[in-house]
Amino acid sequence: MASSSLLLMSLFLLLVVPSSVLSATLRSDIQALESIIRSIDPSSISPSSYLSTWDFSEDPCEGSGTFLGVMCSFTLENTTSRVTEIDLDDDGYDGFLSEAIGNLTELTVLSLNNNRFRGPIPETVFQLRKLTKLSLSGNFFTGDITPGITKLKELKTIDLSKNSIAGEIPPRISGLRSLTHLILSNNHIDGRIPALNGLWKLQVLELGNNHLFGMLPKLPTSLRTLSLCYNSLAGRISPLHRLKHLVSLDVSQNRFSGTIGHEILTFPEISRINVSFNQFISIEVIQVIGMETHLRILDAEGNHLQGPLPLNLATYGNLKDINLRSNMFSGDIPRIYGKRLENSWRSLYLENNYLTGTLPVEFQRISKQIRGSLSNNCLQCPKNVTICQGVQKPKSQCTNAMQEEGLK
Ligand SMILES: *[C@@H]1O[C@H](CO)[C@@H](O)[C@H](O)[C@H]1NC(C)=O
Ligand SMILES: *[C@@H]1O[C@H](CO)[C@@H](O)[C@H](O)[C@H]1NC(C)=O
Ligand SMILES: *[C@@H]1O[C@H](CO)[C@@H](O)[C@H](O)[C@H]1NC(C)=O
Ligand SMILES: *[C@@H]1O[C@H](CO)[C@@H](O)[C@H](O)[C@H]1NC(C)=O
Repeated sequence: MASSSLLLMSLFLLLVVPSSVLSATLRSDIQALESIIRSIDPSSISPSSYLSTWDFSEDPCEGSGTFLGVMCSFTLENTTSRVTEIDLDDDGYDGFLSEAIGNLTELTVLSLNNNRFRGPIPETVFQLRKLTKLSLSGNFFTGDITPGITKLKELKTIDLSKNSIAGEIPPRISGLRSLTHLILSNNHIDGRIPALNGLWKLQVLELGNNHLFGMLPKLPTSLRTLSLCYNSLAGRISPLHRLKHLVSLDVSQNRFSGTIGHEILTFPEISRINVSFNQFISIEVIQVIGMETHLRILDAEGNHLQGPLPLNLATYGNLKDINLRSNMFSGDIPRIYGKRLENSWRSLYLENNYLTGTLPVEFQRISKQIRGSLSNNCLQCPKNVTICQGVQKPKSQCTNAMQEEGLK
């Protein structure tokens, strides 16, 4: 009892002390906030939204619980408060981002995700030298990422995903040494990816769903998540072999070719690999007995992978979901695949290859529902085995494919 009232009292003190300093917000910060709300269509501001609480008859930083989405700095030695964060809700605010934003020079966070802001990102944003987070995802921003962004040396997070941003990634972005997250996916960005190895703290790089082309550049070895899906990137993925901290890799839907190296499958923390819909011709699956691996999901659908199915996949202790659909694998389904399906694997897609022979007996014994498909091979696939549904190719198609491969 005593200790809880003590706790209450200290909470009380914490709440009371700052307002007893009686500071007021810097005039030009208030004007900037007024300008921001004026640039938004009032009919898009619903009564339950953050912006509907912005009541300028009160002080933005000192008011009693108004100005949701705004954070201020309160310093004991300075009686002037400054706006330090704008983090709006996703209410569907429809309008432009006012150039006055550039006057909030103490701003560290600008987050306007999932609204209907349109037009270019005002150049004045790049005056906000203290910004650590710029998050404008899910709006209708247009225009290029101008080199001005490279002035914001404190940035840790840039998230401009799901907009209509075009142009190239400015090469000097690599000078933003504090960046940990660079997320530009789902835009119209084109050109080559510049060398980004200067971003030595970068953990998350997401550039998927753009119009990027060319070969992989140098990338920082600190990366944990890399997504480059749905672009027109080409060449080998061997530059990725150095990214030993990767947890999730998605290079699907590009034009990469060559080999998917064993380095990638055995990164100590890799859990998810998606290399689907490229032009890879081989995948190196080495035996990992006695080695701890975290690979759970391997999706290599839609490549030109050939030869027998990789036996060593069965040695990856945490593997659950395997998709090797629409490749050129030939030969039998290894017995060990049946064993893994019985105990650990959850899904196995082998549809549309050149596999032959009968199924391992385990496939007929499996009682649990496994997801997967084996159709469009040349297998003898009993119809009472669920994943055998669908047609098989005539056997000659598979033997021809194997002969052609042998000739290469
Ligand atoms: C208080 O902050 C204002 C606005 O940032 C600044 O102009 C002023 O010089 C500061 N005063 C002191 C005493 O630090
Ligand atoms: C920004 O601040 C400057 C200097 O205080 C002022 O002249 C200008 O009008 C402000 N801009 C906006 C858009 O409020
Ligand atoms: C891999 O990428 C493809 C294409 O981008 C996508 O359709 C598929 O769902 C992804 N696979 C997994 C397991 O996430
Ligand atoms: C399918 O039928 C075969 C005999 O035709 C039988 O041995 C097997 O147990 C059946 N499998 C399932 C899953 O019903």
